Amino acid sequence: DMPGMDHAAMGHGTASNVALPAADSLGLPRGLPLPALSMLANQGGSGQFVGQLQAAPVSLPLLPGKPATTFWAYNGQIPGPAIVAWEGDEVNIAFANKLQQPSTIHWHGMPVPAEQDGNPHNPVLPGQQQAYRFRLPPGSAASYWYHPHPHGHTAQQAYMGLAGVFVVKSRHDPLAHLPEQWLVLSDLKLDAHGQIADSSAADRHDGREGQFVLVNGGWQPVIALAEGERQRWRIWNASSARIMKLALPAHEVQLVGTDGGLIGAPRHIDTLLLSPGERAEIVVTGRFATGQPSALQALPYNRGKAMSPEQAATLTLATIRQAGSKATATLPDKLRDITALGEPAVKRVVNFSENMANPAAMFLINGKKFDMNRVDFSGKVGQIEEWDIVSQAHMDHPFHIHGTQFQVIARTDDGVWQTEPFLAWRDVVNIPAGETVRLRFVQSMPGLRMFHCHILEHEDAGMMAMLDVRP
Ligand code: C2O
Ligand code: CU
Ligand code: CU
Repeated sequence: DMPGMDHAAMGHGTASNVALPAADSLGLPRGLPLPALSMLANQGGSGQFVGQLQAAPVSLPLLPGKPATTFWAYNGQIPGPAIVAWEGDEVNIAFANKLQQPSTIHWHGMPVPAEQDGNPHNPVLPGQQQAYRFRLPPGSAASYWYHPHPHGHTAQQAYMGLAGVFVVKSRHDPLAHLPEQWLVLSDLKLDAHGQIADSSAADRHDGREGQFVLVNGGWQPVIALAEGERQRWRIWNASSARIMKLALPAHEVQLVGTDGGLIGAPRHIDTLLLSPGERAEIVVTGRFATGQPSALQALPYNRGKAMSPEQAATLTLATIRQAGSKATATLPDKLRDITALGEPAVKRVVNFSENMANPAAMFLINGKKFDMNRVDFSGKVGQIEEWDIVSQAHMDHPFHIHGTQFQVIARTDDGVWQTEPFLAWRDVVNIPAGETVRLRFVQSMPGLRMFHCHILEHEDAGMMAMLDVRP
């Protein structure tokens, strides 16, 4: 158990929520068609993506009969506008910060030069602008996202609504023939006035979860799928802290991609653990006659702590409505070549721990709280690194590193090492309480790279560190 911690005060997701209205009492509409994401217009020519993003407060009608809800949004959209670009494109995005706080845009998962990656070291002050520029290299096709990363304000800016998706496409995509659905999962926590609730002490400790898990900003929307139809779904866990164990019990599901794009070959799956910040691509084949609920669900997932009744329930994130029947499109056996990274030049250990006795430094990496002026590790461009992310913690913490994608080599399960069954490029991996994950990566560009827990409250509390990649 956690010494020095007052369980009642920390709430474990219940005590602090007492004052908040229950989901059903707020009147948020549900069961509408899946909202389409708005797209950021490309103002550039071929081989370019040129666009503008402005972060500003916006009031949007959310609850019928109640005053509009104030969000902080990119271009007034919740989620932010989706960016679609192609491998090889030059990207040039002009960002304007109209918030009262410093902000940045971080291009989560993307191979972007360190000084263009929205590090906390490069804040865009209130009223200021910044042009972000980078090129999308060959092989970078994947489902990424963008969100703020200012020092100490990341969680608040994200839960107020600042996040959008960034899809890089390839001209040689083996799944280009499939229709796509894009699902951005986020958490919404409202107070009795229908405004976004402040974070409680329990939120800052456990990670913030709301009364609602939204899909593209809608509550329990309806997704249309035909019997036998194959669709490619890209799913983003854009929540602050909710680890989601996803299931589509009626339908056939193959995993085809992870954070860094396609995997080698489709893999049949029954559930998909998606931690905050993580993405997956799945191919869903419509099977309606199974007697199982036709829904996208989040199954209860115990994060190494007691679960409140809400946390122990199965959540319906979306329902899947049968829209006729269709011929089943082919699914190639082979999707991509992924070469295993070889033997490491450097091995490091990264410890995740919690010190409940010290509210000023509660979430730690290698015993330390983040310091913007401290370099924790120094590495080299092109060098293969092997990191053991060791949890000495009582709850799960999803590990994330900037600037590259990694391969998980092995993980412990109840302390017993298991070799990873398939190769995949990832930039987030959940580290369950008490377990270790071994991963390898190469950084291909110099500069400072952050690594941190992607529970945004923990990141803000200092569960973050820096790798300086030398030329
Ligand atoms: Cu998605 Cu450093 O973050
Ligand atoms: Cu990131
Ligand atoms: Cu954490």
